[in-house]
Amino acid sequence: MKITFFAAKSYDRESFGQIRRDYPELELEYWETELSPKTAAYVTDSQAVCAFVSSDVGAEVLEVLADRGVKLVLMRCAGFNNVDLEAATRLGIKVMRVPGYSPEAVAEHAIALAMAVNRHLHKAYIRVRENNYSLQGLSGVNFYGKVAGIVGTGRIGAAMARICYGFGMKVIAVDAYQNKDLPFVTYVDMDTLLRQSDLISLHCPLSDDTYHMINLETINKMKDGVILINTSRGGLVSTDDLIAGIRERKFFGVGLDVYEEETANVFENHEDEIMMHSTTARLLSFPNVIVTSHQGFFTDEALGAIARTTLDNARGYLQGVSTGTELN
Ligand code: NAI
Repeated sequence: MKITFFAAKSYDRESFGQIRRDYPELELEYWETELSPKTAAYVTDSQAVCAFVSSDVGAEVLEVLADRGVKLVLMRCAGFNNVDLEAATRLGIKVMRVPGYSPEAVAEHAIALAMAVNRHLHKAYIRVRENNYSLQGLSGVNFYGKVAGIVGTGRIGAAMARICYGFGMKVIAVDAYQNKDLPFVTYVDMDTLLRQSDLISLHCPLSDDTYHMINLETINKMKDGVILINTSRGGLVSTDDLIAGIRERKFFGVGLDVYEEETANVFENHEDEIMMHSTTARLLSFPNVIVTSHQGFFTDEALGAIARTTLDNARGYLQGVSTGTELN
């Protein structure tokens, strides 16, 4: 079976290339272009396409793919809010993903963002490089003894809860499903989490229910001087309300790996240099905000696991065996 990869980067070629000999039944074709109705039309003899979190896997694209004979969409990511599953099912296209390839990778990035904004590492780095060894304005707070509020204690939230607990923090969380593997976590309601947390980290999926869960109302309920981290999905946070909260000096710091307008069309993509043209860029003007480019997943271990599960998914599909990662 031939699989056409969309938005393939050099690191995708490398991680898939390292294991591809274990899958002789699969032919991999890498395209740098993003998936869109236009580019989907160029798929010729592939039964499967491999897409990413940034890809447009909406109804229009799926219709074009179905027309080109595609039967399988392999998402090489965990999130799938960019996929129209109803349309895929209607068109007879199976969609599979890679759930939980390395929750620690994302959780470690979340805590890295929290540590960096807390201890002003982004400013300290530049200061010392310019031969300025002043500590003025660089003081932070101890995480030890503070309250970490985890929103969503699935795979990544659980890893983040463990890290925070290891720091000596009191860990509270919101989730409809209480994770039995986290005996040190106290589950509370959202208002309590907002009121009590010194560090709030978002780890729930984006859905109609969670869209803009961080807004003026919820921001106003937070402690003054709170640190907010979002490594989950941009749509969980209203950017305009966040900017208003930052202006009101609500936050000690904000760390974002994901942003609201994080779609292919706000980026100018040259692989080595991806520039963003959007209102999200306004966030970068605040000294207590650190933004990274959706790199939470980006570790050697995670890339290896993504490649392995994606090709196992393709093999499972070919053999008619469920891998448990089917979305429809
Ligand atoms: P998961 O499915 O294991 O856990 C999500 C948890 O959120 C579940 O326990 C669920 O019950 C809970 N939840 C759902 N709605 C909620 C709500 N309204 N309030 C509180 N909790 C709620 O998912 P996993 O693997 O932990 O991933 C979490 C998110 O992280 C993904 O949905 C994805 O958006 C994001 N992600 C980000 C990456 C990055 O590179 N920055 C990479 C991978 C995932």
